[in-house]
Amino acid sequence: MPDELILTEIDHVAIAVRDLDAAVDFYQRAFGATVAHREIVDSDGVEEALVKVADSYIQLTAATRDDSPIAKAIEKRGEGLHHIGYRVDDCQAALDAMVAAGATPIDKAPRPGSRGTTVAFIHPKGACGTLIELVQE
Ligand code: CO
Repeated sequence: MPDELILTEIDHVAIAVRDLDAAVDFYQRAFGATVAHREIVDSDGVEEALVKVADSYIQLTAATRDDSPIAKAIEKRGEGLHHIGYRVDDCQAALDAMVAAGATPIDKAPRPGSRGTTVAFIHPKGACGTLIELVQE
């Protein structure tokens, strides 16, 4: 067990959507939400819009190409909750702790994410059925 709590914040809740502009428009009309950051992440084949909620984000995420993980998720399950981003101080240390606890990493090592973050994904199998992203700012 780690000596101290590794999680510092919920970084984001990621929701897979078909139409990013329509999703942003819905969040604006429903919540008066404004987009704090919007970015295309070419390596992941996604475009995301981040709606800030206190120190966390709702990350509306759409696919930019057919082989994107978001495209595959929507094809399988439709739109909806895709993953939870847990904010950590040290992505490598958090990844090591999760693997030591029996989780299966998707990323063997931390890699660049959006907003200049460092991230690593953990497979839902062995992690309570939840796709987890470790996010270091
Ligand atoms: Co994410």
